[in-house]
Amino acid sequence: MRFTDEYLDELAARNDIVDVVGSYVRLTKKSGSNLFGLCPFHSEKTPSFSVSADKQIYHCFGCGKGGGVISFVQQMEGLEFAEAVEFLAKRSGMPLPRQDEQEQKRASKRQRLFELNKAAARHWYENLISNPGNPGQQYIEKRGIEMRWVKNFGLGYAPESWNDLTDAMAAKGFSQEEMITAGLMKPGKNGHGGYDAFRNRLIFPVIDIRGNVIAFSGRIIGEGEPKYLNSPETPVFSKRSNLFAINLAKKSKAGYIILTEGNIDVVSLHQSGFDSAVASLGTSFTDEQARLIKRYADEVVLCYDADTAGRKASDRAIGILQKLDMRVRVLELQGAKDPDEFIRAHGADAFRNVLEGSAGQVEYRLRLIESKYDLSTEEGRVGYLKDSAALLATLPGEVEREVYAARAAEKAGIGREALLSEVERIRKARIRSGKKQEQQNVRPTEVHQNGNREQRYEDVPSAVAEEGLISLLYADPALCRRADLPTEADFSSSVLYKLYSALLRREREGMSVSPAALASELDSEEMSLFTRIISKKQLELSRSAELLADYISAMRRRAEQRSEVDDLRGYAERLREQKNNYKP
Ligand code: UTP
Ligand code: MN
Repeated sequence: MRFTDEYLDELAARNDIVDVVGSYVRLTKKSGSNLFGLCPFHSEKTPSFSVSADKQIYHCFGCGKGGGVISFVQQMEGLEFAEAVEFLAKRSGMPLPRQDEQEQKRASKRQRLFELNKAAARHWYENLISNPGNPGQQYIEKRGIEMRWVKNFGLGYAPESWNDLTDAMAAKGFSQEEMITAGLMKPGKNGHGGYDAFRNRLIFPVIDIRGNVIAFSGRIIGEGEPKYLNSPETPVFSKRSNLFAINLAKKSKAGYIILTEGNIDVVSLHQSGFDSAVASLGTSFTDEQARLIKRYADEVVLCYDADTAGRKASDRAIGILQKLDMRVRVLELQGAKDPDEFIRAHGADAFRNVLEGSAGQVEYRLRLIESKYDLSTEEGRVGYLKDSAALLATLPGEVEREVYAARAAEKAGIGREALLSEVERIRKARIRSGKKQEQQNVRPTEVHQNGNREQRYEDVPSAVAEEGLISLLYADPALCRRADLPTEADFSSSVLYKLYSALLRREREGMSVSPAALASELDSEEMSLFTRIISKKQLELSRSAELLADYISAMRRRAEQRSEVDDLRGYAERLREQKNNYKP
């Protein structure tokens, strides 16, 4: 559903941020019009979470989270933007925007598909638990799945029949067209009749985070092709944005999600007490799936099959997860093809050992290094980086180096690229067998600013000016009409550029720039950053033209320096290559 800016602003007006936040956090007045409380997003003893009644925003000085009332509900309730809007609409008794006829039709069609899927899941579940000794029961027994977990997952049995399900669903009033759309029925030749798509299979319903049955995955009982049959894409199911068992895993308190390849692996893990296991649905892992996980956890434990395909898939997933700033651990199971086999062979305790051990050696040694230095000082961070780069350079696997570099970089508050290039430099130097003196890194070690854990800048001086520019344009929108404003090339930070361009476009098109309206195009982290920027102290608008000129020239100066550094790096690289090729 799309919401107009007017609708969103009205919604924000009817849901005062002080009331909404106040229903989750005890707020007290402290300074000016700001209220303070204990931040609901990180644990703390003294309040650093502030709510501004004037600006209708919140901002935590501790963890950096912030936004308007919609962002707050998104972060607090783990909802998507549209869901948070619905939540607030309901809260304030404001009707949702009127849907046109087409939208209404589509919504009711989807509703019917949910009902059909639920009825099908029920039917297959009944098949499985009644008729003692049926092939489905024999199969789950063989796979070691207990009744309790059949129930929790809603597993089912589709018998070897062409019409068991379709007859039962027809009797409940569902049409052939609906069954075909849901992927439960295959159309017969020349459009007449049809037959059950899932036959002779153990059925795993796929249930979304709202509890809707959206699809099915069926494992053949015994041998046969395909081994797993999955629902096709339907109006209620997109493979690439869902995960099997996310409906259960989202309630886990583990703090991480275990990502596996197989449905059986997931059932097996839950049954052994690992209640945060999910599986991608027979596709390679996607951005959408990563974002789905990120709603519930910041860490993923990858537990893919121990073969080449699994390792490849694992590498891909690591890349996707790290892009979203999520922590990744990789579990390598020895002597078993997948988690299910491992648990059956060695038991749940053995799995827990591997799981806990996967923090492992490297992690332990990184912690030792960390304890040697005071990371609140620049000196300490440099020392920490040097030592950890030296440690990481000893790791043989590139994936391993990347995973741990990301973590060490986070600790020291620099970009992982900077650390990785240092690691690579050490490695190359070692490979060149240490006969040359270590080269100076042309790129200075960057240090991030003021305690915001979410945001790290590659070029701090430029980023400071970029932030200043954004807050200035927000405070004095008339400036947005000027023609000489910076372009993308002048920005060092892509996220700041995104905020800047959203602001500029909205101001120029006369659209709302309220936190409620902006939240429709910025994600929670971007909103947090935006709120932090605009909640800084008031700028002296009498000097705005002067300030603007200062920010712009600071940005352009830095941009020039960055390109010089790049040139220099290229030059140093070429020099090194020449030296390597030179053999006396
Ligand atoms: P595997 O063949 O590795 O599954 O496929 P598994 O869990 O070890 O199978 P079992 O233990 O023999 O039952 C892993 C996943 O890949 C998807 C399924 O989601 C499966 O769980 N897959 C596999 C398919 O979608 N189609 C197939 O034909 C095979
Ligand atoms: Mn298996």
